[in-house]
Amino acid sequence: MRLLLAILLAAQVGCGGGTPAATTAPPKAQAATGATAAAPAPAAAVGPDGPLTITVPALAGIPDDAASVADGEKAFAARGCGACHAFGSKLVGPDLVGITTRRSLPWIERMILAPDVMIKEDPVAKDLYRSHMTPMPKQGVTNEELPKLLAFVKSKGG
Ligand code: HEC
Repeated sequence: MRLLLAILLAAQVGCGGGTPAATTAPPKAQAATGATAAAPAPAAAVGPDGPLTITVPALAGIPDDAASVADGEKAFAARGCGACHAFGSKLVGPDLVGITTRRSLPWIERMILAPDVMIKEDPVAKDLYRSHMTPMPKQGVTNEELPKLLAFVKSKGG
């Protein structure tokens, strides 16, 4: 900043016929004082099941009746999950086999309902994002679809 001012002043002196303007001290630059520094974000409450800001339906368990599984299969296709997830192999996203045993139910619910928040705030989801390098997009899954999706995923070994 000072260098720039000095150059500008020198240029003025050069054009203006040598008036001794450069002898007055240049005003201190104000912009760099940190007035625009962002306030620290409030610490998000993250529990073992993910950020508590994401509210999920309290499920007693994953349904296993045939109707739920069938509805879940339709939702899995309609919401595009199958484009990125398979059972028994890794696609863009992790293999979903074993998901219901390696994560808690509320964690899985949070990941499906709000992956955008999870990959920013939840340590496990952050790690997954780091290793997969693709953010799972929010698919607009409703609370009503969620247990059915889970029923289908579990029926496939998830
Ligand atoms: C565009 C690809 C994509 C789509 C579509 C997608 N996911 Fe994902 N999913 C990912 C990726 C990638 C991850 C790993 C976390 C990350 O990088 O965001 C992930 C993570 C997950 C996890 C956690 C896996 C683990 O090992 O803990 C679950 C559960 C999951 N997805 C379920 C779903 C369901 C259900 C749908 C459909 C509603 C869906 N995903 C749609 C890409 C996708």
